Amino acid sequence: GGLHQKFKNRGKVYWGSCADPNTLNIAANANILKSDHGQLTPENSMKWDATESSRGNFNFGGADTLVNWAVSNGKLIRGHTLLWHAQLPGWVSSINDKNTLTTVIQNHINGVAGRYKGKIYVLLHLYFSYVFLPSEIFNENGSLRSSVFSNVLGESFVTIAFQAARRADGTAKLYINDYNLDSNNAKVQGMVSLVKRVNANGRIIDGVGTQMHLGAGGAGGAQAALTALASTGLDVAITELDIANAGSNDYLTVMRACLNTSQCVGITTWGVSDANTWRTGANPLLWDSSYRPKAAYSALISAL
Ligand code: G3I
Repeated sequence: GGLHQKFKNRGKVYWGSCADPNTLNIAANANILKSDHGQLTPENSMKWDATESSRGNFNFGGADTLVNWAVSNGKLIRGHTLLWHAQLPGWVSSINDKNTLTTVIQNHINGVAGRYKGKIYVLLHLYFSYVFLPSEIFNENGSLRSSVFSNVLGESFVTIAFQAARRADGTAKLYINDYNLDSNNAKVQGMVSLVKRVNANGRIIDGVGTQMHLGAGGAGGAQAALTALASTGLDVAITELDIANAGSNDYLTVMRACLNTSQCVGITTWGVSDANTWRTGANPLLWDSSYRPKAAYSALISAL
């Protein structure tokens, strides 16, 4: 079996990757998704700019392609992302009144999460990772990042968004997600406090995602980060893993941290091959630019 099957045999839910029509169309890439991955996250096609570039006009072309491919091939799906300060159309960023922004957030989330409700769920788990911000709602010191959402609505936008998602899809797991949650740092503490505050009156957040865009030698804090995030009592997931110029030990360290954390449900890498990555020239993935498995891949397989 491939990476996903072996990881699952160790009690985890999935090993996954991001994908989208542009990478599904590359046969070598699609074959690796089939053999080694059990979960897909749309890299760009489900974001606000792709799905609702003008108010109330939804376009699901790319996202449908990804979802249909995942369903036909038996892959779990993590939605990405319902609310984020980036890849946000100008018509949203320029809203400055609370009622309008609240309605706009609710309509957007209802439109996207509602689109994929149930259809998939019979067979699969649809994980909506609210990368809030993309996720990314926090500053490095753990305070809320400035965005149209926090500036107009304060922290209440988090509850508004999660309630809308829960209404739109009663069974999907709802995650909040951010970057630089790579050690037990101030941002991790800010995330843990926010999640506890928001869930205090009833659980609306089901899980916390850490992206883990790392550099070589940068995985040393991964276990501490997962342990701290798991102190929320919720599931945790590594949602966008890539490691610039990684040695085998870097990937092994991250995988072991997830294996050692019972609440860690799975790992998603942010792509398959170094030929298709947002980190141009950094060779951060497990297959090289000719779609050949790298030493780090073999090390993971051996360790499993
Ligand atoms: O779709 C347009 C296309 O119409 C245009 O011709 C072309 C010209 O540049 O750009 C295309 O958009 C690009 C888009 O990817 C789709 O390919 C954007 O320029 C490019 O900036 C965008 O990059 C994505 C980035 O998010 C945007 O912030 C990356 O592919 C994607 O991997 C990256 O992923 C994010 C996660 O969603 C959240 N966490 C961080 C992570 C890395 O930035």
